[in-house]
Amino acid sequence: MAYKYDVCIVGGLGHIGLPLGIVFASKGMKVCLQDINAESAEIVSNGTLPFVEYEAEPLLKESLKNGNLSISLDSHSISEAKNIIIAIGTPVDEYMNSKTRQFLEFISSLKKHLNPDQLIVIRSSIAPNACEQIRRTLGEDHNWKLSYCPERIVQGYAIQELKKLPQIVAGYSDDAVEEASELFKRISSSIIVTSIKEAELAKLFANSWRYIQFAIANQFFMICEDQDVNYDNVRHAMVEGYERAAQLPSAGFAAGPCLLKDTMQISSFYQGGFHLGHSAMMINEGLPNFIVNQLKSKYSLNNRKVGILGMAFKANVDDVRDSLSFRLSKVLKFSGAEVICSDEFAENPEFVSKEEIIAKCETVIIAAPHSVYSEIQYPDHIDLIDIWKISQ
Ligand SMILES: NC(=O)c1ccc[n+]([C@@H]2O[C@H](COP(=O)([O-])OP(=O)(O)OC[C@H]3O[C@@H](n4cnc5c(N)ncnc54)[C@H](O)[C@@H]3O)[C@@H](O)[C@H]2O)c1
Repeated sequence: MAYKYDVCIVGGLGHIGLPLGIVFASKGMKVCLQDINAESAEIVSNGTLPFVEYEAEPLLKESLKNGNLSISLDSHSISEAKNIIIAIGTPVDEYMNSKTRQFLEFISSLKKHLNPDQLIVIRSSIAPNACEQIRRTLGEDHNWKLSYCPERIVQGYAIQELKKLPQIVAGYSDDAVEEASELFKRISSSIIVTSIKEAELAKLFANSWRYIQFAIANQFFMICEDQDVNYDNVRHAMVEGYERAAQLPSAGFAAGPCLLKDTMQISSFYQGGFHLGHSAMMINEGLPNFIVNQLKSKYSLNNRKVGILGMAFKANVDDVRDSLSFRLSKVLKFSGAEVICSDEFAENPEFVSKEEIIAKCETVIIAAPHSVYSEIQYPDHIDLIDIWKISQ
């Protein structure tokens, strides 16, 4: 059967779908980015990224120009591609449980566009056993070629990482594994074939492992602060020339749309028995409170002007999803402080410039370590809280 596109990415204008589509298109494949977000479609069709993604824009412009990349708001496009990659968002509910039913309803809605000759690749992060539920939702009236190929890039750097990272490939049939491997060999450095369950767990364990590493660093940081000891000096002493401790991160907010979510997906699957994951959540999510309590032990926050630098969930990107900077702002306000916020990348009418923060605030907290904050000369009268230690 002849198809108009080699690949259709459903959720193709998101943080995962868009760079992936751009990279496939840059390898000469015909790619359709299918999405429901008309605003992003307009921005991307003009050759601009709707969010920070380093090195993507020249490739996007080139792929639009040579016709390798198309954008579609019509779900019918899904029937026009040999390979379908599903990369829509998979948020958790207010109790941190995966919204698997919602995802399955979405899969069900796709069925009318699918035929058994197509390869279906699940790219979104999903709960353990979700692939099996997807397979059942698709039904047994056809031999669907269903595979799970999880995404493991670090947001903002997908263009570099997609080329560098090995791709985990799992599938329900030899055909599915073979075709998914061939597809990802076009862009990935190597392929690792696993069972479906192994792939589901490998993806979630990887993020959860990082989340727990950040938590131990944050716990060590809190212990040091309570003892009036500099954690960074301790960390330096631990890691310098000592490879067994080399992976210990520096302290800082560990947040964003993936790490906590994936940790909690394991927890709900393991029926609340993932104690290490829960402890990590309490430590990481508790860091804003710890910082505010430290400030309160030094001075009253009532009417004190406090500025937050960096509202994104991590350095040098504009993504504010699940950023702890907002929790920090809330806790500060709850303690009576007058809070103003700034970010170098994320836009919000309530944000002010970093210069205004420096000019107006008595306390300044670097919440996301955007590189530019390391270049600021912080006046002596400001109480600077820099857990990332980027200002030195
Ligand atoms: N952001 C990351 O760093 C990262 C890393 C690894 C895995 N993931 C996983 O990848 C998935 C996507 O995450 P993201 O950060 O790209 O989310 P996102 O919100 O940036 O992108 C999702 C896209 O899907 C689109 N969409 C939603 N419903 C749709 C529908 N019915 N039809 C077509 N398009 C639809 C949205 O408009 C949006 O453009 C999630 O499961 C996430 O956990 C994300």
